[in-house]
This record gives sequence, C-alpha cells and structure tokens, in this order.
Amino acid sequence: MIWLLGERKKILLIHGMCQEIGDGIDYDKLIKRFGCQKIDEELITRFERVTGKKAHHFLRRGIFFSHRDMHNILSLHEAGKKFYLYTGRGPSSESMHLGHMIPFMFTKWLQDVFNVPLIIQLTDDEKVMWKDIKIEQARTMAFNNAKDIIAVGFDPGNTFIFNDLDFIGKCPSFYQNMVRIQKCVTYNQAKGIFGFGDSDVIGKITFPSIEAAPAFSTSFPFIFDNKVVACLIPCAIDQDPYFRMTRDVAARLKLPKPALVHSTFLPALQGAQHKMSASDPNASIFLNDTAKQIKNKINKYAFSGGRATVEEHRLLGGNPDVDISFKYLTFFMEDDERLEEIRTTYKSGELLTGDLKRVAIEIITPFIQQYQARRAKVTDDILSEFFKIRKIVV
Ligand code: TRP
Repeated sequence: MIWLLGERKKILLIHGMCQEIGDGIDYDKLIKRFGCQKIDEELITRFERVTGKKAHHFLRRGIFFSHRDMHNILSLHEAGKKFYLYTGRGPSSESMHLGHMIPFMFTKWLQDVFNVPLIIQLTDDEKVMWKDIKIEQARTMAFNNAKDIIAVGFDPGNTFIFNDLDFIGKCPSFYQNMVRIQKCVTYNQAKGIFGFGDSDVIGKITFPSIEAAPAFSTSFPFIFDNKVVACLIPCAIDQDPYFRMTRDVAARLKLPKPALVHSTFLPALQGAQHKMSASDPNASIFLNDTAKQIKNKINKYAFSGGRATVEEHRLLGGNPDVDISFKYLTFFMEDDERLEEIRTTYKSGELLTGDLKRVAIEIITPFIQQYQARRAKVTDDILSEFFKIRKIVV
C-alpha cells in the first residue's frame, strides 16, 4: 500500500477514519470516534472573555477544531494558576513545509496569550524505530528541525527544547515517569490504540511512553521543582491516540490529565483530500522555497475550484470550498473581511482563478520570506540555549 499521506496518517487509518488515497478526512466523524469535544462558539467566547484577547483565526475558522478539557485550562487561568504547554515533532530530513508550521504558530500564540512555559519534544528515537535511519542521522535532523521551529519566534527564556536521544539519559525523573507509564499499559491496549503487530520491533511498543512522559510536569524537576503542574498539548489530530493513552495513565498515577487542542491538516496543493507530505516536493510549499518556486507551485499545482473557461466562470462562479488557494488563505490571511470578500466574489464569478492564485502568492510569499529571515539568524549558540537543562519562567 502507498502511504501518500505519510506515516502519521496510519493512526487515522487504524481507527477507520479514512480508507486509502483519495478519501478525505471527516473531522466531525473523528471527534465522535475519538470522543473529543468540538471547539464551539461557547468555548471561543469564553476563551476571549477569560484571556481578554481576540481568538486566533485558527480558532475562529475551525483550523483548531477539537479539544479535551480546554475549559479546565481556562478555569485555571481564571483562578490565576499556571499551566505549561507541551508539543513536539518527529524530525525529518527535509526542510519543514507550511503544514508543519500550523501547530507551532498556534503554540506560540497560546504562549503569548497565557504567558506560560513551553516544552518541545523532538522524537528522534521515534524516527529511528519507524524509518530506515541511523541514530546519528536522526539526531542531526532533530537539531536542524529545532532551528526551523525556533524561527517560528520562540524565546529561550520560557521554552525548553529537547531531543529524546540526548535528553532522556540525562534526566532520571523523565525515565522514571516512562517506567511508571509503561507499567500502566498492556500490550493488548497498545495494540488496540496503535495497531502494533507481531513483527513490529519492541522499541515501537514502548515509544508511546516516551511521547506521554512530557505531559507530566514531574518529568522535568529542573523546571517545575517536582510540583504537579497542569499541561496543555496543542497538536495535530493524529497525535490524539498517544494522549488518550496518557490521560488514562494519568488517572492511574493520580496526576492531572493533560488537556489538548487539535488541529486539522493543511491540505496538499493537489487537493483537500490530501495532507501535505514532506516526501513529495510538488505537494507542498517548503519553508526554504524561493519566491519563484512558491509562485510556480501555486500557479501550476494548486487545485482550483474555478470553471473550465472564463465565460463559464463568470456565469456560474467558482467553488471556494474545494479551492486550495482559497483554503491556504483561510490559514494564512488574517483579515476576516478581505477573506470574506474574496470568498463571495470568487463564488459569484467576479474573481477569477488567476486573481485568487495571485492573492495566495502575495500572502504566502512574504510570510515565508519573513520566516526565512528569522531562520537565518538561528545560530548554534542560540540552539544550545534552548536545549540547556535549566530553569525556565513558570
Ligand atoms: N509523534 C510526533 C510526530 O511524529 C512528535 C511529537 C512528540 C508530538 N510529542 C508530541 C507532537 C506532542 C505533538 C505533541 O510528529
């Protein structure tokens, strides 16, 4: 079977969420199947009231669409109590693409709104287990990807980044929590959640305990002084099974269950039913693409909801719901009014596909260029500041 949507989607496949290539992801069905909560108007209103900030357009537009226990986090904040943010990434050799940015952009915003510490896990060990990659390569990829992540705009004063292959051996409390977690989950349960089979290497079967451990503050005594602090995890929806397991374990360990906010996937240029895959250079816009490459990719590959001819388009109008340039604007154009105007004029046939693509290019190109300018400034010294085992602001 070809896994066009990448390794990560396997978890969704196991859960019967989508069959094969070409079958889009039904996010409402996912909420039901996974037993999460929809991010609804009520939550968004409460979020704005409690934080005094306008909700991020990712929330307003359903890009972050689902959650677990977000109301608890808002109640903590209301009561003046701190929590921390935890997110992560499985490093890959290629440069990150636009889709990888979504959880990190949102995490950065959450960190600014709540003023809380952030922990980022780079699961280089996961890649060794799942891919044909050596330990040394995985570590190198982790450090390169860390620079990509730092360039989103994080601050070493309140952000700790670690890669499993180097950090875990230096932190007994982390390993001890891993062992506590490992003792709470049977092989049968892990099989049910992750679909492991008899020929999977044993490293894969213990891996979920490594992704779960950062959700407990006691894994990081140098940050939290062994205090129990609540955790909020922003992640793409495919990571939910790890944290469903973590939440079950938390109850057994008498620790707080981590709260979650889940994102949808940024679709591939070729169409909404495909997630962007790092292995197909034409499916995605990469963070190191040039302005010319961005322009070419959008013009050539971005699936269009427009009509076959200009005449037909003027007469019948386009379909913004399937149009990838429009979809990308919902992710990257902050101005609600302008976005709505584009939607209605595209639908009425007034705005042509070429015009819409031009707007998408105009929005995405400076976004990537500004990112690249920040990325160029991330030196090895800055990198090591983030990785230092140290106290960060709580
Ligand atoms: N398994 C994730 C991936 O392959 C990486 C990861 C580790 C992660 N911890 C996380 C993602 C916490 C989100 C939240 O990308």
